[in-house]
Amino acid sequence: MEFSVKSGSPEKQRSACIVVGVFEPRRLSSVAEQLDEISGGYISNLLRRGDLEGKAGQMLLLHHVPNILSERVLLVGCGKERELDERQYKQIIARTISTLNETGSMEAVCFLTELHVKGRDTYWKVRQAVETTQDSLYSFTQLKTKKEEPRRPLRKIVFNVPTRRELPVGERAINHGLAVATGVKICKDVANMPPNICNPAYLLEQAKELAEQHSKLSVEGIGEAQMAELGMHTYLAVGRGSHNESIMTVMHYQGGNNSQAPIVLVGKGLTFDSGGISIKPGEAMDEMKYDMGGAASVLGVMASLAQLDLPINVIGVLAGCENMPDANAYRPGDILTTMSGQTVEVLNTDAEGRLVLCDALTYVERFNPDTVVDVATLTGACVIALGKHASGIMSTHNPLAHELINASEQSSDRAWRLPLWDEYQEQIESPFADMSNLGGRPAGTITAACFLSRFTKKYNWAHMDIAGTAWVSGGKTKGATGRPVPMLTQFLMNRAGVEMED
Ligand code: BES
Ligand code: MN
Ligand code: ZN
Repeated sequence: MEFSVKSGSPEKQRSACIVVGVFEPRRLSSVAEQLDEISGGYISNLLRRGDLEGKAGQMLLLHHVPNILSERVLLVGCGKERELDERQYKQIIARTISTLNETGSMEAVCFLTELHVKGRDTYWKVRQAVETTQDSLYSFTQLKTKKEEPRRPLRKIVFNVPTRRELPVGERAINHGLAVATGVKICKDVANMPPNICNPAYLLEQAKELAEQHSKLSVEGIGEAQMAELGMHTYLAVGRGSHNESIMTVMHYQGGNNSQAPIVLVGKGLTFDSGGISIKPGEAMDEMKYDMGGAASVLGVMASLAQLDLPINVIGVLAGCENMPDANAYRPGDILTTMSGQTVEVLNTDAEGRLVLCDALTYVERFNPDTVVDVATLTGACVIALGKHASGIMSTHNPLAHELINASEQSSDRAWRLPLWDEYQEQIESPFADMSNLGGRPAGTITAACFLSRFTKKYNWAHMDIAGTAWVSGGKTKGATGRPVPMLTQFLMNRAGVEMED
């Protein structure tokens, strides 16, 4: 898709389609009004006859409107003018894009970016329009033998901004939006890939392919032999029941100078989580292919970061592993020694994510990181607590938690903080080892984070539980969401001091 910004009046546009808003009840936006005047009241006439009420998401496609140079005019219902908020704006853009894509307009000039959206500026509106467009045109068709594609797909879209002064900020918004969209697409592609193809070696392969495209990126893979030398026994234990080798992929992005301490992102990369010996029930078990959503999002963020060419150092870790039941699998009751030397009693082999992550979190100490953020589809409890709307954030470092929340607001990729008080630590005490891998049902998301916190004392650390946000369950829209690539990319943009206003 080709994006550009422009500042022009609607009647002068010569395009396949021009997109303007109509508010409820039957009220023209100022741009629609201009078209109405030129066309001798053609549009207001239609509204009077009841063709369009203006409810959010309603669409009316007109052809050959009198005196209008563009072939088509798409009227888009935007709801009540004063109630247009960011959620509605994104929905409206998404519906507009699918309509354009399905109705033969290969290019369009869109004026919806000029509408007033509560609390948001032109930069945000244009960037979200780009991200939402790419998001709504995405489909995972790599494994379909018959691909259904529209005959005349949308190829080019111009977003209008109210004044020429805003053109530079609009252009910047397009570049940033495209960079985020690149990461989101990579994240979705890898996460949607089935577990018979996407195994830990596949994650390494994808990272290598990305690194070939960017000179500032390099990749190393740490296999089981090296993990054994390093003493990563809990990571190894989780993968022991699988024929797919556990591989920890480490990606280095060097955008700053050597002396700059890196930011480290660690993604849980369980390419399939059957539960192991504590096997999961069969229903929807296929969705456990998404248990590498954390790793997929880290890969996506590395791509966005490289596209933005940010002047910082970032290390991305994809903690690849598969959790399967087998004669050689680890079992409940086992006591394992982590890379840190601390011991863990396994009470449930389905609480495997923390066992893989704890060793990865110890491993990254060697980079003397400034900050470490891990991203994981860690607990079903997080889906219960926050649903699919917000990722969970837990941190032992308040400023970092605030930075992440702030980035999530800026990027409209929601996240919410949960507490990580010491009181919760007692739930993971074990009579036989330093800790157990199970904290019981109450506050399961927090006790999982408590477990991780015991391995992150040497740096500023935050944990993100994305079990509810990384994919959409069941139904026709089933699939990876690409979250939290937008908020993590934003976090890095903020660290790099990227300008977002004019
Ligand atoms: N990958 C799952 C968490 C999960 C469950 C993500 C459902 C998305 C949807 C994780 O490895 C897991 O199995 N967690 C257990 C932990 C429990 C045994 C303490 C869970 O949440 O039930
Ligand atoms: Mn599990
Ligand atoms: Zn898991």
